[in-house]
Amino acid sequence: MKKITKAVFPVAGLGTRFLPATKASPKEMLPVVDKPLIQYAAEEAIAAGATELIFITGRNKRSIADHFDKAYELEAELEAANKQKLLDIVRSILPKGVSCVFIRQSQALGLGHAVLCAKPVVGNEPFAVLLADDLLCGEVSITKQMVDVFEQQQCSVLGIETVAPEETSSYGVVDAIPQSEDLLEVKGMVEKPKPEEAPSNLAVVGRYVLTPRIFDCLEHVKPGKGGEIQLTDGISALMQYEKVLAYRYHGKRYDCGSKLGFMQANVELALQHPEIADSFKAYLKTLSI
Ligand code: UTP
Repeated sequence: MKKITKAVFPVAGLGTRFLPATKASPKEMLPVVDKPLIQYAAEEAIAAGATELIFITGRNKRSIADHFDKAYELEAELEAANKQKLLDIVRSILPKGVSCVFIRQSQALGLGHAVLCAKPVVGNEPFAVLLADDLLCGEVSITKQMVDVFEQQQCSVLGIETVAPEETSSYGVVDAIPQSEDLLEVKGMVEKPKPEEAPSNLAVVGRYVLTPRIFDCLEHVKPGKGGEIQLTDGISALMQYEKVLAYRYHGKRYDCGSKLGFMQANVELALQHPEIADSFKAYLKTLSI
């Protein structure tokens, strides 16, 4: 049985919905309370057993590599000042036994193209893909839930959730046959359909476990919606060779690629944060909204 040890993080997008914040710094470094989005995604992948984190980066993304690198000066300063707690926080960003690889996607040609850029490092192994701007919280890491499904079924698994019919045009939407309460077999997939053209209101969120055959499929995908190489089109091609499952994950998603979702994540996670939960709650109560 194949185990998943590699997680791919496509972070080369332009993040236009968050301009001007994303003009010079990546959307994935936006903090929710005190951690950047990319760190939440990395922690989720590590909790699922990933030991190799593969970042597909672009221009203006150097701070992501810096975030996961050792910060000698900072560590020395914290050590000298005897700030052990902060030192532990900084050192635990990348646990022992986990390594990072950075691959440059020189042009943002689409999510499918970004995933294809991981081929030389992933090779002939199944792997997870996490889009860090979808912040997913659950009692069990959402990627771990999907890896468990993969280990039982040995096929690609797409994370899905039910969205309002009028929201289908923001997502990849699946046409799928239920197999059990949480699992469906995918028969078709459409990228960002208008509500009247959507095969369902089951939307693919930013989590995937994919078999390596996806690379052959992506190599043959022609630019689709928006002139981009779409991952959706690659998965549609993959379905002709292999079973693809959709998995209704257990947890909550914040669409941190949008301003509203990002603010919701900040408010809700602040209300759970051990350091500020009480004072933040008291503050919110003072607002006469
Ligand atoms: P989005 O569709 O959210 O695009 O990409 P974006 O550029 O990040 O943001 P907006 O819509 O302009 O505000 C989905 C994911 O795919 C990655 C992005 O970084 C994001 O995680 N992506 C997209 C790439 O890595 N490369 C691409 O060419 C396109």
